[in-house]
Amino acid sequence: MKKHIKNNVYWVGKNHWDLRHFHGSEFSTDKGSSYNSYLIKEEKIVLIDTVYQPFSSEFVHNLAKELDINKIDYIVANHGEPDHSGALPELMKLIPNTPIYCTENGIKSLKGHYHEDWNFVPVKTGDRISVGNGKELIFIQAAMIHWPDSMFCFLTGDHILFSNDAFGQHYCSELLFNDLVDQGELWSETYKYYANIVQPFSHLVARKLEEIIQMNISIDCICTSHGIVWRDNPMQIVNKYAEFANAYQENQITIIYDTMYGGTQTIAENIVKGISEADPLVNVKLFSASSSEISDLMLEIFKSKAIMIGSPTVHNGVLYTIAGLMEFISGMKYRNKKAAAFGCYGWHDVSTKTIEKGLKEAGFEIVMPPISANWKPDENVVSNSVEYGKQFAGLLK
Ligand code: FEO
Repeated sequence: MKKHIKNNVYWVGKNHWDLRHFHGSEFSTDKGSSYNSYLIKEEKIVLIDTVYQPFSSEFVHNLAKELDINKIDYIVANHGEPDHSGALPELMKLIPNTPIYCTENGIKSLKGHYHEDWNFVPVKTGDRISVGNGKELIFIQAAMIHWPDSMFCFLTGDHILFSNDAFGQHYCSELLFNDLVDQGELWSETYKYYANIVQPFSHLVARKLEEIIQMNISIDCICTSHGIVWRDNPMQIVNKYAEFANAYQENQITIIYDTMYGGTQTIAENIVKGISEADPLVNVKLFSASSSEISDLMLEIFKSKAIMIGSPTVHNGVLYTIAGLMEFISGMKYRNKKAAAFGCYGWHDVSTKTIEKGLKEAGFEIVMPPISANWKPDENVVSNSVEYGKQFAGLLK
């Protein structure tokens, strides 16, 4: 169903209400997601992005109800990832010669995904096309926000920024606009999206935001490729991204563990007790890695000023949930976060060393040597864990 955005600009995307995981099983999408495609109907007709491949037929069918598809003058592919380009093969069967505007890397990505030699037109920052009625689309490369081919485009006259993945959320709502949806849901999904998708490229986000500010364009509306359209005070999300990109943290400490027979869990729970006693105002949170979605854990780490990770020693290493977590955080390029490790062992204390090494390599500052228990924690270990938590909290004040 077409939805009106502003003047001659329409949303023609797909709401995927029952999506529960994205990027394989990596990102849990409790509130679904959307694949936002936009139609500009000025003297020229422009389609910006499409939808995920399983919805190709529905997308092309709906588009054909809105206009004669042969009348599309330009297609803009802001990003080649299949959640936005997936309907191109079906669409291009109908209009094989229509030019597709994208970056040089976009051409590589689209050719790589679809093995088609469509009528690609490479563009770079500052290139522009006229859409008629005195309006232009200006292209802005946004490499690594979040893929090398990513691009934004800006519609003059209407002052709309089409930002593709940037500023988005995996969030589904028929209400479409930021001022209409549940604000708790919107911001929760905005944070989670940044923490999982954009965080590794924070240094580039800061530079890109500066570049957009230097362009001196006034933005009335930001049309993302997932989630809502920012029409009410759209600069609020630009400012929030500036905050996120600057080593974001809250007064939060996150403890994540996995456990075999409850020993590492006992240490974790008593560390929490110690932290809370030492600093009643810090938001200390405790998660079992095996009963949490990894993308939710990444959100909690993103918000934290410090974390602790714990595992028993198994097979001369750590439990696979903790190994997966360490692998995930190793690419996140966190700055200014502190950490420590803990765990239980029977024969050799390997897990805490493995975790500490992984945390250091991921850029965390290790503020205390690990705490570990040989076999099941006894009363001494319990009180030492409380004390350990108190000291950890004290170092962070
Ligand atoms: Fe929403 Fe990078 O694709």
